[in-house]
Amino acid sequence: MNKRLLYVSLLIISCIIIFSQCIHKQPGEDNKDLRGEQFAGSAACMGCHKRIYDSYLSTGHYKTSGPASQALIKGSFVNPHNVFSYGNGTKVVMEARDSGLFQVAYGDSVLQELHRFDISVGSGRKAQTFLSWRNGKYFQLPLSYFIPAHSWANSPGFPPSYPKFDRVIPSTCFGCHSSAVGIKSVSMEGLQLSEEFEKNQLVYGIDCERCHGPAAEHVAFHTTHPQEKAAMHITKIGGLKKQQQLDMCALCHSGLGTPQKPAFEFKPGDALSDYFFPDFTRPERAAEVDVHGKQYQLFTASKCFIKSDKMTCSSCHDPHNNERNRLQAFSQRCMSCHQPEGPAFCKMTSLPAAVLSKNCIDCHMPALPSRNITMLTEGQTSPTPDSMRTHLITVYREETKAFMAALKK
Ligand code: HEC
Ligand code: HEC
Ligand code: HEC
Ligand code: HEC
Ligand code: HEC
Ligand code: HEC
Ligand code: HEC
Repeated sequence: MNKRLLYVSLLIISCIIIFSQCIHKQPGEDNKDLRGEQFAGSAACMGCHKRIYDSYLSTGHYKTSGPASQALIKGSFVNPHNVFSYGNGTKVVMEARDSGLFQVAYGDSVLQELHRFDISVGSGRKAQTFLSWRNGKYFQLPLSYFIPAHSWANSPGFPPSYPKFDRVIPSTCFGCHSSAVGIKSVSMEGLQLSEEFEKNQLVYGIDCERCHGPAAEHVAFHTTHPQEKAAMHITKIGGLKKQQQLDMCALCHSGLGTPQKPAFEFKPGDALSDYFFPDFTRPERAAEVDVHGKQYQLFTASKCFIKSDKMTCSSCHDPHNNERNRLQAFSQRCMSCHQPEGPAFCKMTSLPAAVLSKNCIDCHMPALPSRNITMLTEGQTSPTPDSMRTHLITVYREETKAFMAALKK
């Protein structure tokens, strides 16, 4: 049997095993957390962790999915900004009707298909894409909103010549962009895995318990023991081993591996290798890894990581805070190890330390184009790649030149 077919069959079989163990709940059973009684829901954390809760609301994690609404969707529903033409008399118009928001396909001005925006995926840092509910399945809509171009664009990987409305979305998508999704059944349709979802059963965003694990017992204990100042019935992340801390983030920031268990069951302290078959990317080939979604592989291939003992994603990122574009603050974190007076400081001696210190990032973690995520806006013949910060921290000569040129201006 050919290798690829064998691989695909194994993938499908492991998916069936996994999803047959997935959350089963009848709609309307209760209004408690979809994930069961061990979960309290983020709103329950607000009372005692107000500062963290409030800043968390500004993060990409919190905003990464939600019920589609005009307030949430960044793209325009107003003519002429709401039209995407395929160039052959076919167009899709984003329409706000009394009954909801729709992507409506017209061929020579005759309405051909009409599909509702139900779920919005992506916080809108870079892009948003939209899912439509139909008979137990979610379908990705043909048009996404692409922030760098401020425009509607053909969804990544969609055909450029006509609007495709039948791209089925698998639960793995929710595994990285939500905190739970209700799955009704899993079956085979030919060689394809077919999942049926429960309507409106979703915990949107990456919530507190997606990272911290079930916390109902923690909430109950501290509610009845307000004098207790030490955290009880919750995993102390600072007390975990380095690899365990990295795995917490790698669950969603190392790409989609071949699953062994549903990603939703992951709790802090678990080993990623119990959830996905290992990825065999070798550190010396890191330069070939796509910048999209693979921060773990790139960061762990960097000398900073390899040559220091305790580095994790938290060495630079505060998981409860939106620190986007605060390059000087990030540079301060570099300088906790690379002090200006020390031997490990920047070797770029043509610039004074005071200038270097403001922005280590653009030269050593430049934004590079993704090969996998590209968007075609109206009238373009070749798609524009989305750019992302590479996490392979090293010397980039070309980007340094660009930085120097910008500095001179
Ligand atoms: C009734 C009060 C209360 C509620 C509600 C509460 N916590 Fe806590 N939590 C505490 C106290 C007290 C501590 C210990 C002091 C501290 O770290 O703030 C704590 C600590 C923590 C810690 C740090 C553990 C450590 O030491 O590293 C985490 C994580 C945590 N809580 C998560 C949550 C989550 C998630 C929720 C919501 C599902 C939540 N808490 C709701 C009282 C509460
Ligand atoms: C993306 C994953 C993620 C999410 C979402 C998240 N946390 Fe955390 N949290 C962490 C990590 C990682 C640490 C340890 C940080 C460190 O090592 O400095 C942490 C630490 C904590 C701590 C103890 C340290 C501190 O800063 O006081 C508390 C309390 C806490 N989180 C509560 C919450 C609450 C409440 C929410 C939801 C409003 C939440 N977290 C959402 C990953 C997350
Ligand atoms: C359950 C999946 C999941 C986990 C676990 C997770 N992330 Fe994320 N993370 C995402 C997704 C999805 C996005 C993209 C959010 C968006 O903008 O729509 C993201 C975005 C981010 C961003 C960019 C956010 C911004 O607002 O600019 C950072 C930084 C980040 N994650 C760090 C972490 C770190 C550190 C951890 C571990 C403590 C972690 N993530 C754990 C899924 C996850
Ligand atoms: C293995 C985890 C994973 C899976 C599966 C996944 N994503 Fe993502 N996605 C991410 C992470 C992490 C980011 C942000 C960081 C990056 O792009 O490197 C992201 C970014 C995005 C963004 C851009 C958000 C923004 O504004 O920056 C969109 C839109 C998106 N994903 C949609 C989807 C859709 C739709 C699916 C399912 C078909 C999907 N993703 C599957 C992890 C995942
Ligand atoms: C926890 C400490 C630590 C932090 C934080 C840190 N580094 Fe490093 N970094 C190191 C160590 C250790 C080395 C290896 C030095 C050696 O080879 O002697 C290194 C190496 C490097 C190198 C050389 C890489 C190569 O391929 O030759 C660059 C460039 C660098 N760091 C930049 C940065 C930048 C930029 C940041 C912040 C975004 C940063 N570092 C944060 C510890 C750190
Ligand atoms: C040495 C510091 C450092 C470490 C360690 C680090 N990051 Fe980052 N990360 C950055 C900087 C700097 C940015 C760019 C922030 C910006 O441009 O606003 C960034 C951006 C990101 C983004 C958004 C990328 C984009 O362009 O959209 C994600 C996602 C992310 N980091 C995830 C992670 C994860 C997951 C880990 C651990 C595997 C990690 N980071 C470790 C410094 C770091
Ligand atoms: C203008 C771009 C630029 C900025 C800004 C910059 N660097 Fe560099 N850095 C370079 C270049 C180029 C080299 C290689 C110099 C050489 O070998 O000729 C380098 C070398 C280094 C090295 C040594 C790598 C080795 O080969 O051992 C480290 C560590 C480093 N930089 C860290 C930093 C830190 C930390 C900051 C912020 C405080 C920073 N750099 C800011 C461009 C820059």
